[in-house]
Amino acid sequence: MSEFTFLKGPKDWWRQAVVYQIYPRSFSDANGDGIGDLNGIISKVPYLQQLGVDAVWLSPFYPSALADGGYDVDDYRDVDPKIGTLAEFDKMVDALHKAGIRLFVDIVPNHSGSGHEWFQAALKAAPGSPERDRYIFRDGKGENGEIRPSELSSHFGPTAWTRITEPKGEPGQWYMHLFASEQPDFNWDNPEVREDFLKTLRFWSDRGVDGYRVDVAHALVKNLANGHLPERQSYDLSLVKHDGTDDLFDRDEVHDIYRSWRQVFNEYDPPRVAVAEAWVHPERRHPYASEDNLGQSFNFDLLGEHWKAGRFKKTISFNLASAAKWGSSTTWVLSNHDVIRHATRYGLPDGLNLDKWFVEGGVNPPVNNKQGLDRARAATMLILALPGSTYLYQGEELGLQEVLEIPHDQMQDPQWFRNPGKSRSRDGCRVPLPWTSTGTSFGFGPGGSHLPQPSWFGDYSVEKQDRDEASTLNLYRLALALRSQLISDESIQWHRHLNSKVLHFSRANGWQSVTNFGTKPVKLPAGKVLLTSQPLVDGKLPANATAWVK
Ligand code: GLC
Ligand code: CA
Repeated sequence: MSEFTFLKGPKDWWRQAVVYQIYPRSFSDANGDGIGDLNGIISKVPYLQQLGVDAVWLSPFYPSALADGGYDVDDYRDVDPKIGTLAEFDKMVDALHKAGIRLFVDIVPNHSGSGHEWFQAALKAAPGSPERDRYIFRDGKGENGEIRPSELSSHFGPTAWTRITEPKGEPGQWYMHLFASEQPDFNWDNPEVREDFLKTLRFWSDRGVDGYRVDVAHALVKNLANGHLPERQSYDLSLVKHDGTDDLFDRDEVHDIYRSWRQVFNEYDPPRVAVAEAWVHPERRHPYASEDNLGQSFNFDLLGEHWKAGRFKKTISFNLASAAKWGSSTTWVLSNHDVIRHATRYGLPDGLNLDKWFVEGGVNPPVNNKQGLDRARAATMLILALPGSTYLYQGEELGLQEVLEIPHDQMQDPQWFRNPGKSRSRDGCRVPLPWTSTGTSFGFGPGGSHLPQPSWFGDYSVEKQDRDEASTLNLYRLALALRSQLISDESIQWHRHLNSKVLHFSRANGWQSVTNFGTKPVKLPAGKVLLTSQPLVDGKLPANATAWVK
């Protein structure tokens, strides 16, 4: 067995960390098969170090049929042979740790992949068997069980039930899947399921993993007692009950699971950390983030926020206050692998129905790339100045726009083809990164690219931006370097600016951040200008820009 490397250090390293999300299949491809891999990541550790991130969050890298980009996990304690080996994983941890970068891995506990040995065993076993009890199997309705057990729909549409063929060949029971049919939901009332995840957490923690991002953390425990089956057909959060008794989401009992995980995390030094992906009512987010629980819970509020000073201020104040109340620190997110890149979102009108806009071709209205990028740079500097941790998504440091021109027959996202004409494909933010301005797959690897890269990708490449002082990449590098020196306690003070379209706050050590949400240049407060997201105009901060002053 190889030597594992651990990173010691302060217990609270995560509270104001900058975490860089790697979508492994689209980051860097070392062996040229068109799929990013662990050796590719290892080769880019110097890039990550120069960028100045504190940690990397790796989206799923486990064996998977890739029905949902790896969020269909067939084995929780191994590496997908398509992207590497366990030995390479250890090498990657070692390389990251030597560069002072910690590692979060994605844990997907709500469902496995349908290739998981437990699901395969369940298919071969009889109804009512212990094998079936690890998942959610039910008989169908109707004379021959031909009608699905309930009208529950999947997040990806249409139904959340799939009928199996029994071992002897006859049509059989149905199983529940809140996502694609290749993602059967686990039965978390089964103690074997609970035990197995504790084993998985120890497996990776023992190998030096520092933290976990917990996928769909709010859905594990479901109310399925006494033959009850949820009939939900819309996932609008406003329909989810606020009191911990909803049939499917954010039930109070889910926290028993995370308290048991916390005990495992605390077996390590420093304790392992975790962040919940929990789509719950904002006032119910914080139990996931408390100290005896996962420790942190994503605040996704800025993903849909309008470009308005007042709206940003409200969201910021709310999240700082509630994180403080639960002893946690908040998180700031502008992009991830599930949403349209923020440089593109900000180039569109506020409040636009993005799914509808996308399925109608993504052209009406057209994206204003300049406005999008200006606001993206300003928003990034704004959140980097805030207390809490910041999650960056690969490619945003290049100011990458969403790729809107992927031909339909090359899309991979089940959300797209399970729900024709209604849902957006998430593939446009998952296109392999451009490292060079020309050449095979723009330097992603010596072979092709598993999703097509557009011709304009070269303009956004690392190679090109490296040489350009004013590039977005160099802005991120400067901002992260400054931030690591400026960071102070987790409070902010708001300041009133003469112009109500300006957001101005300072940290305890006098570090100030000023963002101009308006259309005209505005005055900056007195002090030394440390960094601006756009050049100043006659000493004033232009529209859609942020400045740091001290
Ligand atoms: C999370 C992931 C998303 C995935 C889903 C099902 O929301 O971020 O990519 O499709 O869970 O695992
Ligand atoms: Ca590869």
